[in-house]
Amino acid sequence: METMIETDGLTKSFGKENEIVAVDSLTLQVGAGEIFGFVGPNGAGKTTTMKMLIGLLEPSSGSGRVAGFDIVREVIRIREVTGVLPEPAGYYDNLTARQNLRFYGKLYDIEEKDREERVVELLKLVGLGHAIDQKIGGFSTGMLKRFGLAQALINEPSILFLDEPTSGIDPLGAQEMRDLVSNLSRDRGVTVFLSSHSMTEVEEICDRIGVISKGRLIAVGTVEELRDMVREKEGVSYLLEVSGLAAKEVALALERIGRVHSVEVSDGGIRLLADKGARMEIAEVVKRSGGAVTRFEGERMDLQRVFLRLIGA
Ligand SMILES: Nc1ncnc2c1ncn2[C@@H]1O[C@H](COP(=O)(O)OP(=O)(O)OP(=O)(O)O)[C@@H](O)[C@H]1O
Ligand SMILES: [Mg+2]
Repeated sequence: METMIETDGLTKSFGKENEIVAVDSLTLQVGAGEIFGFVGPNGAGKTTTMKMLIGLLEPSSGSGRVAGFDIVREVIRIREVTGVLPEPAGYYDNLTARQNLRFYGKLYDIEEKDREERVVELLKLVGLGHAIDQKIGGFSTGMLKRFGLAQALINEPSILFLDEPTSGIDPLGAQEMRDLVSNLSRDRGVTVFLSSHSMTEVEEICDRIGVISKGRLIAVGTVEELRDMVREKEGVSYLLEVSGLAAKEVALALERIGRVHSVEVSDGGIRLLADKGARMEIAEVVKRSGGAVTRFEGERMDLQRVFLRLIGA
């Protein structure tokens, strides 16, 4: 797959003595057409990373490329092929959505004939068809986000940078925004780099996720790969039910397995925490002790917990 976004040791520090390291040696790649989710708590370095990628902030060290262009030396080329939400510039409150979007079209030198058509098409696409001729000053937070997406799309970008596209929007609006982003990727092959606080959000629409904490990239992968990383480190929690043998006896036998960390007998069955991959051994031990496994389920770890484990909270 062609690489659309790549960074190598990208670092940004602030402060007189560069004592605030906002982004610390970030190395990652995002492929063409991918939706990449950047997840991390407040102050993790998500916005700072995006600002470097779109040429709004110069890195302290390290390098990066977007669509093959250098993020320091070829910022103008990057601007031509990317769309950004939110646009750091404010909108004109006393102009309508149409007039505001037309303005961005002019910035990109889009011909008048195409421009007017695209303005209307995009405002409809983002669900602002009813508000095309309303003044932006009266827009709600959700409407402003939608407008921001239309504005990000005005130059028909091949890469979209979305900084918390759903924050401040109600659940329905957020769902619509996610659907829009998914469709853009599917129908137009747009590469998306988006940030979020929510693992469940990125799980829904992202192909891969990068978890960032205190400026450092903690983990990168699909949701399942991230789950596996946590399981690898902490073991998997299982629920076991056995017939033909008292639960207490089973528990005693299981406790002797090195890869089993803890065993707890309750009314619902036997709960145990064991290494990922110890399942066969556990089943064997039950059989050898004279029991039959009637239920053996691995707990599906809640995503928010995966996230908290990864960032070490
Ligand atoms: N211009 C600046 N001057 C000094 N410190 C800054 C500046 N910009 C960002 N920082 C610091 O860099 C760190 C990362 O901030 P950043 O805005 O990138 O985090 P974030 O992951 O986007 O957080 P949030 O989820 O709250 O948006 C924070 O500690 C922040 O205080
Ligand atoms: Mg931010």
